[in-house]
Amino acid sequence: RDVSTLLNLFDFEESAGEWMTKMAYEYVASGAADELTLRWNRQALDAIRLNPTVLTDVSQLDTSVSLFGTRLSHPILIAPTAYHRLLHPEGELATVRGAGAASALYVVSSFTTTPLAEIAERVTQPLWFQLYVRDDRAFTKDLIQEAEALGYRALCITVDTPTPGVRNREHRSRFKLPDGVRTPHMGGPLVEKKPLTWKDIEWIQSFARTPVLLKGILNPDDAEKAVESGISGLIVSNHGGRNLDTVPATIDALPRIAERVDQRIPVLLDGGIRRGTDVLKAIALGASAVLVGKPICYGLACGGAEGVAKVLQILQHELELAMTLTGRATLASIDRSVIWQ
Ligand code: FNR
Repeated sequence: RDVSTLLNLFDFEESAGEWMTKMAYEYVASGAADELTLRWNRQALDAIRLNPTVLTDVSQLDTSVSLFGTRLSHPILIAPTAYHRLLHPEGELATVRGAGAASALYVVSSFTTTPLAEIAERVTQPLWFQLYVRDDRAFTKDLIQEAEALGYRALCITVDTPTPGVRNREHRSRFKLPDGVRTPHMGGPLVEKKPLTWKDIEWIQSFARTPVLLKGILNPDDAEKAVESGISGLIVSNHGGRNLDTVPATIDALPRIAERVDQRIPVLLDGGIRRGTDVLKAIALGASAVLVGKPICYGLACGGAEGVAKVLQILQHELELAMTLTGRATLASIDRSVIWQ
């Protein structure tokens, strides 16, 4: 599919809706229950107004950011999403090429349909690994150590999914993986019996050799506990509105968490980021970087590696425009004063 006519991330979503099978589209697009949180993620970002500064020197824009000693040319990461071969025949191998073309860090999902080793072979950009902790802790430990040995540079433990949420739309479309699409690092769906607790996180930290981030933090008290437990970074996330409906938009949860963490560790955010101004708003309210989920799935479905790259390039370009137009030449200069109070 020709992606050259798609100008923004909403164009990709619309085009994907026409192009993908209904089942795959419903799987990606749907949220939990009444989809209130799914909508709020967008609405809350839209409701924030900007307060530009004029007549500043923005001739040398710098969108780069350092995370755990890795310099990234921009703060837009690929969020972990499952089943890329459901979306495109090349699956995660297309995603990783797209990431490379757009110089974006890619967080590979535990539900990857391509072995971690094959993705790592193709890499020109840093990779992180997203972990779902299984009841079989020996399996989990082996998986972490495999990812580390392959060069995945950080571990994002997803902590907001003790169970999948109420997914009415997904069930209605009778979601089922096509024959031949497998998840080599996940034996089956997430139906764990042992609860994941801080003890398990400590256990993982006891042997992990790369930074450990917690993905799915909304509560400032949890953020505090994480910092005290020596966690390296947090991802403020409501799983794209897919798990617990009626939790707040992530952009609304971010300020309190950023305040509590008080720059002791990096705080990242995902959920509803679709425009360069959204990235700028997240950074202004305390995020070091953002991740995008659904738009990457749509880019992959519409145009494989090229589609993924284009989604990221559009967002990065829009961020540069937003920085220029608000008079902020660096990410460090994007503070709360850019938000209209
Ligand atoms: C996800 N997400 C997710 N998260 C995770 O930790 N492991 C996973 O395997 C998946 N799988 C997944 C599949 C699909 C189709 C979607 C849309 C999302 C959540 C994802 O990492 C991220 O938190 C949200 O997608 C961010 O919100 P946006 O950008 O989709 O609005």
